[in-house]
Amino acid sequence: MAIATESVREKWSSRWVFILAATGSAVGLGNIWRFPYVTGENGGGAFVLIYLLCVVSVGIPIMMGETLIGRRGRKSPINAMRTLALEEGVSTNWRFLGWLGVVAGFIILSFYSVVAGWSVAYIFYVGGGAFAGTNATASASLFDSFTGSAWRIIGWHSLFMVTTGIIVARGVTGGLEKAVKWLMPALFVLLLVVVVYAMSTGNLGAAVDYLFASDFSELTSKSVLAALGQAFFSLSLGMGAIMIYGSYLSAETSIPRTIGLVALCDTGIAMLAGLAIFPIVFGFGLEPGSGPGLVFVTLTIAFGHMPFGQLFGALFFLLLTVAALTSAISILEPVVAWVVESFRWSRRKASGISALSAWVLGVGSALSFNQWADIRLVGKTFFDWCEFLSTTVMLPLGGLLVAVFVGWRMSKRATAEELGIGEGVLFQTWRVLVQVVAPIGVLLIFGNALVIFLQDINVLD
Ligand code: PHE
Repeated sequence: MAIATESVREKWSSRWVFILAATGSAVGLGNIWRFPYVTGENGGGAFVLIYLLCVVSVGIPIMMGETLIGRRGRKSPINAMRTLALEEGVSTNWRFLGWLGVVAGFIILSFYSVVAGWSVAYIFYVGGGAFAGTNATASASLFDSFTGSAWRIIGWHSLFMVTTGIIVARGVTGGLEKAVKWLMPALFVLLLVVVVYAMSTGNLGAAVDYLFASDFSELTSKSVLAALGQAFFSLSLGMGAIMIYGSYLSAETSIPRTIGLVALCDTGIAMLAGLAIFPIVFGFGLEPGSGPGLVFVTLTIAFGHMPFGQLFGALFFLLLTVAALTSAISILEPVVAWVVESFRWSRRKASGISALSAWVLGVGSALSFNQWADIRLVGKTFFDWCEFLSTTVMLPLGGLLVAVFVGWRMSKRATAEELGIGEGVLFQTWRVLVQVVAPIGVLLIFGNALVIFLQDINVLD
């Protein structure tokens, strides 16, 4: 794959490689681990609907915006922003958008690696038969005792982080391309197998009701904010991942069509994950809002009972690990590209030091499930705060700035040129979305949630 090693001038060898890489970035733990549990914590149907609304009206337009900034700037996000700001004659302070992305990237990678480590461990647990014939209580208690051991989860976290660092250090070459080309479709097929099994043995009716029947009386401002954050997280937006991948995209590729496809795959996989998990949740009397362990507790029950479950289960967690790896690479890549450009370090040194820093932060998240479980600020552990701040605050904020930049600071001509769909209805729709809908939507949701938060901590009353 023609991603740059030293220079960011190189390009993807084809549109498909970009689609694969961007899908590899988008599809990961966000779809299979985070989407179901955040949906469970926010009451289901109405949350899913708001999530879909956020993807279509805010996520996709901003994703197109990020890609076009990357392709036009052709550098790491911070420097691409500076280049474009100079080109458009606006303040170079816009580069701070890139900075925000680098900080968000560090935080996300830190906890992402911890959870990906769980997935690695589960390849062996499930493959080794730890869940054969299991029930809800046993599966949950295995998860609790696993995450309760700091050393164990720090070990798996280290393994995952080292692997990510090595791949990024080598430049994202052929390996990744193969990974996304074969392993992502394989993950999709295996997910379908679990969906079919869950549908036939679990409580499908309750699951479909839960996911798709919207009861708006359950919806709070916190849930709306969570839906927005999940849309950004799942589409890899607001921190420069899609921007850096866009910077390797050739000028001939159609951004709208390509991005449309990536967003469709991402959303489809999240929905499938929901359909795999919730029939089991309701069939086995589990609690949908039980938090980050949801996928690990539910799917293992399915694997514990289905024919060849040990094999399918091990394979599933292996593929989930690969999906997480292709996402983690895209989180580290913009950071490393910027370090290489700015300090003229070698890629190896830049990757090593960046991964190490994220690893250290990740240890805090790993400890949140055991030693530090009781250290909480406004009810949230260190892990919860990392997840909340990066996903729900920084990513939407980054996205908001991208929308304002492409909508108001870049010339209409420049954006139209990059999108290459003329200046007809489609382009006008995109422009209204980035100029008005996305910024106002994000601000309203932020404002609303801020009020609730202040009420929560009794500042306003
Ligand atoms: N989109 C990835 C996932 O769903 C996570 C990610 C977030 C990747 C931000 C890059 C940037 O798992």
